[in-house]
This record gives sequence, structure tokens and C-alpha cells, in this order.
Amino acid sequence: MDGDDLAAALSRILPAACISRRPEDLRAVARDESDLPGVLPVCRCRPETTEQVAAVIRLAAARGVPVTARGGGSGLEGGAIPSAGGLVLDLSAMDRVLEVSPEERLVRVQPGVVHDRLNRLVGGHGLFFPPSPGGSGDMATIGGMVSTDASGIYALRHGGTRRWVRGIEVVTGTGDVMRVGGRVPKSSAGYDLKSLFIGSEGTLGILTEVTLGLEPVPPESARIALAFPGIEEACRAAAEMAGYVPEAAAVEIVDRETMGLLRGLPGLQDVPEAHLLMVETQGRREDCAAGMESVRDIAAGHQGTVVTGTGDPWALRHRLTRTIRETSAPGGVVRTDCAVPLPALATFVREAKAAGGFPGDVLAPGPRRVYVFGHGGVGIVHCLLPLGGPGAWTPGEARAARTAIAARAVALGGTVSGEHGIGIGQREVLAQEHPHGVAWMRRLKALFDPHGILNPGKVL
Ligand code: LAC
Ligand code: ZN
Repeated sequence: MDGDDLAAALSRILPAACISRRPEDLRAVARDESDLPGVLPVCRCRPETTEQVAAVIRLAAARGVPVTARGGGSGLEGGAIPSAGGLVLDLSAMDRVLEVSPEERLVRVQPGVVHDRLNRLVGGHGLFFPPSPGGSGDMATIGGMVSTDASGIYALRHGGTRRWVRGIEVVTGTGDVMRVGGRVPKSSAGYDLKSLFIGSEGTLGILTEVTLGLEPVPPESARIALAFPGIEEACRAAAEMAGYVPEAAAVEIVDRETMGLLRGLPGLQDVPEAHLLMVETQGRREDCAAGMESVRDIAAGHQGTVVTGTGDPWALRHRLTRTIRETSAPGGVVRTDCAVPLPALATFVREAKAAGGFPGDVLAPGPRRVYVFGHGGVGIVHCLLPLGGPGAWTPGEARAARTAIAARAVALGGTVSGEHGIGIGQREVLAQEHPHGVAWMRRLKALFDPHGILNPGKVL
């Protein structure tokens, strides 16, 4: 179906203002925050109601038009890139907060609500939605976060998005509207269908409403930055903190090369060029302090020293991804987003940074850089391989390294994606992690999306 026919058919079910074929609008939804190449859709629509989404899906199903749902476009694995062309369903206009219920610690939202806006709003009730999408809280939408099971720095204490989703409304690939889950914090009523959609990246259905649980804002929090002589010492300390300091809410790792880039930024000449841990404890004042004491003790046991002069560690932390990408222009980066069990963290990070001794020896050691940072307390490690700037890789080498690093994470008992999802970028290694699971995933996909229109070419 060509673009004009599609737009004409859509105009019979949507207000004209919701439909666009303007080149600038199509370009704006062609890519995400990864460096994967964009793909232009033939049409973009911005529905405002569940009924409109359902009508669009029924139309697309009848005509075999691929549909890629999109929120803020802050994804890092190409999940929102309309690889098959077709229609982009931009959910950013569905941005109403439908209900806040402080006594139930609950909020009901449309999928286009942006993370930071939600937290500003519920913060007025002394509550917060703990998952945080790194430095993209001003872009990332709740629908996108549910679609990738996003998590961020507080996953250690508060888990990822999945832990907070109580119910969803979703339009399946047949255009049926399904509400699953509800308001209660837990339920044993049959299969947990809502969980299937969390992390499914728009391949099983389109989220049109989400009910989230919320957490009381902790009474106190304390933050510290610690420097280590080697990345392995930092990893071992992170694993020990995660295991033995219950007040630790975030234990973040940043390697020396990444810190070196931050030093190049205006006003940051004094940040240390060292392997760092950034840690936050949360709780009542005395618990925070006790947790901090344990954190310092553990750090000292791994030759860690307290660093001053970094200001708020999270302000630095949230600049990492964008800084590395800018330094790696024009090629950008190839990334991995693996997670490994904590006892394997130091080994995994050492091997990833050496980018050498993997099985099959895909990678020869060399001057190429691997920037490493991540949510060490939950074993999530982002490895960024620059395609430009210092230590650049060729694209082919970097993709081979990505596969080797992800395979190594799986061999160590980990996962190819801790929080960014599979998208396009990590598809090659999914089957290594789920040798039995991928075939069942395909069957589930065929059940919810029998016409194969929902985000084809993603995840599986
Ligand atoms: C972060 C994003 C990239 O950890 O997940 O900053
Ligand atoms: Zn992250």
C-alpha cells in the first residue's frame, strides 16, 4: 500500500491533524538515540485515544502495513526505528495522567507521559516511580520504558519497570483491546499476561494505558564517589556493596577512559581520571549513615578512596552516554548492554575492556577503546565501542566484538540485555541466551500479532 493510499485510509478513521506525510515529520521518527541508521516510514500518525489506536491497527492488519510504535525516541537499540517502513504510531500525544491515588501508591497514565513529568507530579504526594532512564528522563515515556523494561541507577534497590507495572491496556495485532492486571500490587489470577508485554518492544501489542505502583520518596539519601586503582577492584567492591549493604540504592561503575572524556567538558577539568564507583544509600538518616560507613569500609578493602570535588555524582553520571557519543562522532558507538551475575562482574569487565581473549579470538588486543560504565550493583555493564574519535573501531570489528562480548556474558550466566532491550542491535545473540525460548517467543508473537505487522524485524 503506498503512502497516499495509507494516508487516505487513515483519514477516514483519524482526525486529519493526527496524520502526516511531511518529510520533516517522517525524518523525526526515522531513528532513535542509537547510532543505527534511520529508516523513513511512509506515514506517521499521532492517535489520541485507545479507540483510534485500535482502529489504526485493524486497518494495518487488514492491509498488511507494518506498524512501529514510538514514544520519546530515547531508545538505544533501534526498537523504535521503523525498519520495515510502513506506519509509525507516535504515542506522544497520548500523554494524560488519568489518575493519581496516593493512598494506593498508584498512578494510571497514558503511554506518552514523560518520565520526569510523572515524577514531578507524583513527587507532590511524596511518591516516586523509581526506574530512571539514565540521562533521558526528559525524553523517555512510560510506554517506552514498559516496552523495554527500562531500569537505570536505582534498579539495585527498587528493581526495573516490570516491578512497578500493576496493569496495562494494550491493543493487540488484531486490533483487540485487552486490559490485563489491575490496581492491586499482586495477583494470582491465572497467567500473568501483562508481563508478556513488558519488554516486548511493540512486537506483541501497542500499550495504550499503564497503571504503575509508586514508592514513597526516601526520607534521606547520601551519595559518595570512590576511586579505585583498577577496574577489577571497582567491580569487586561494587559486588560486595550490592551483596552486603541493604541501604545501597545505587552502585554505579564508571571506568577511567570514560572519566577522562568527562574531564574534557567545561567545568569538569577537576574530576578524577580514575575508575570510579558512585554510590547512593537511602533510608532514615541513621540507616543512610550506617550504609555509607559500610560502603567506605568495603571500598577501603579494595583500595578505594573517597573522591571529593565531583559535585553531585548523578549529575556527572547522567552525562556519560551523550558525552561518549559526541566524542565518537561522526560514527557514534556500537554498544552492548549485558548483565552478568555479581561474582562474574570483575572477570566480565576485565575481558570486555581487554576486548581480546574471547572464545574464537574474534578480537585481537589493540589500541581500540571499550568505554565501560553501568549499574554495577545489578551486574549491568554498558560497553561502548567508538566508531570515531580516540580508539575508534571499524564498524565490522565493533559488531563482531559486540557479539563476542554478549556471548561471553551469556556464558557467564548473564543476559545480552540488562535494560535497553533487543531492538535491532542485539538480535544476533538472543538465541544464545534462550536456545529453547526463542521458538516459543515466535509462537507467542504469532498469537498476538497473526498478521506480522507489529514492529517486524525487531527482537526475534
Ligand atoms: C545509562 C543508560 C545508557 O546507564 O542506560 O546511562
Ligand atoms: Zn544504563
